[in-house]
Amino acid sequence: MFKTLRGRITATYFLVVLISLLLASLFFLFFLGRYIRTSDREDLGRQVDAVARDIKQVNRQFLPAVSGQSAPSKLPGQAQSAPSEQNTEVQARKLIGNIMNTEAEVLEAKLLLVGPTGQVVEESAGKPVFGNRVIQLPEGIFSETGPVVVERYFPGLRKDYLFATAPTALAKGQLGYLAAIKNIEPVRPVAGSLVAYVALAGLIALALTMALAFYLSSAISRPVREVTEAAQRMAAGDYDQEVEVRGSDETAELAHDFNVMSERVRTAYELQRDFVGNVSHELRTPLTSIEGFSQALLDGVSRSPEEQRRSLEIINQESKRLNRLLGDLLLLSQIDAGELTAEKEPVDLVDMLRKLESMYSGRAESMGVTLRVDAPGRPLSLFTDSDRLERILTNLLDNALKYTGEGGTVALSAAAQDGFARISVADTGPGIPPEQLPLIFERFHRVDRSRAKKLGGSGLGLSICKELVETLGGTIRVQSLVGQGTTFTVTLPVG
Ligand SMILES: Nc1ncnc2c1ncn2[C@@H]1O[C@H](COP(=O)(O)OP(=O)(O)O)[C@@H](O)[C@H]1O
Ligand SMILES: [Mg+2]
Repeated sequence: MFKTLRGRITATYFLVVLISLLLASLFFLFFLGRYIRTSDREDLGRQVDAVARDIKQVNRQFLPAVSGQSAPSKLPGQAQSAPSEQNTEVQARKLIGNIMNTEAEVLEAKLLLVGPTGQVVEESAGKPVFGNRVIQLPEGIFSETGPVVVERYFPGLRKDYLFATAPTALAKGQLGYLAAIKNIEPVRPVAGSLVAYVALAGLIALALTMALAFYLSSAISRPVREVTEAAQRMAAGDYDQEVEVRGSDETAELAHDFNVMSERVRTAYELQRDFVGNVSHELRTPLTSIEGFSQALLDGVSRSPEEQRRSLEIINQESKRLNRLLGDLLLLSQIDAGELTAEKEPVDLVDMLRKLESMYSGRAESMGVTLRVDAPGRPLSLFTDSDRLERILTNLLDNALKYTGEGGTVALSAAAQDGFARISVADTGPGIPPEQLPLIFERFHRVDRSRAKKLGGSGLGLSICKELVETLGGTIRVQSLVGQGTTFTVTLPVG
């Protein structure tokens, strides 16, 4: 269960709620216990104090008869008042005994009247609160200034006792104490019944939490699981994967990113598949020719020297074509692998244009094409890779000458503008249909396949141009009108 995201989230929720509940209940019970105890103690203290005052009052009432004459002369006073003094004292004790008995019943406690030295003077009736055991009043429990309450737990009896004392006056006016011993309910049973309620509430809370956690974790784990399954199918070779994007949270982002990735993988896979197909196709045509004509030579089918020469020419031509194709493929693979490093140096565009002019003028003439080169009047220096720039421009010039045909014009020109150099190759050829314009820079794409093939094109020239221009930090654009001509413009940074 804990292996899955859902299991872990649910378990975490469960633990968090359980721990908080336990902590909350513990604190609650602890403070409740303290509260109950404190109020018990305060109540008993107050009550004992009140009874102690009553007893004091009673003793005071009967006191004047005793103390009024005792000060001047003890013997005559004693003799005179002996019977009444005894009377009053008996009355007082009786009254006090009654009070103590009544109050003991009310307080459910044992009440003791204690003399200054701790001896018990009077004791309330009622059943002893502590069985047969004698419980001593704890040390230091008496205070002249007010009630004192202490609590003791007697492990042998398994009982809690509250001891409360309050100062009072004894029969002869001397200081005494009223003490109460009360067996109190331990807090635990009270707490116990509360624990049951807390536990019940806790169980309900836990059940609700589990349901919520289960729902929440499902909401989280479902998209994750969907993406995982889609990724597994992709790993197994099925690249056509798309997962549903719900909402806008992190899992939605994951699903969206997965879709973007799978789209890219699919495109890359299709490109690669097409590429391999295209390459094989391009290799097959020249190889078939070479095989056929060399076989003819071997078999002696080509008899006349002209025929033999013709066969050899074709073999030579096709080998060159294969070589060019492989050169292009190698270059593209280097570009793809990022292995092509630009070796930049100052290049004068005027020189470059003149060089190209001398390279192409012969061929243009033989094809019946007018080649015009408009070089700037003064040197135009570029800091760039000259081999690469030459490759770009020869590709464009090759195309222009190839597709323009007899009677047309090809113009090569360059100009500087705003820190950029613009080099254009314009022709008066057939032009390219607008819907084809975005495609011509793709690998192996040819507008008119049979025509391009006849002219010896493989459809890699412009894609190489574009990649090379980009490695030099520039851009390439094309403008074309069918029937009027095409212009390719390369823009490169001067620095
Ligand atoms: N100057 C041009 N005039 C007309 N069409 C062109 C021109 N340059 C390129 N194209 C079209 O763009 C296609 C792609 O060009 P390119 O990548 O150089 O391939 P290739 O020259 O090997 O056919 C060509 O097949 C051709 O149809
Ligand atoms: Mg080309």
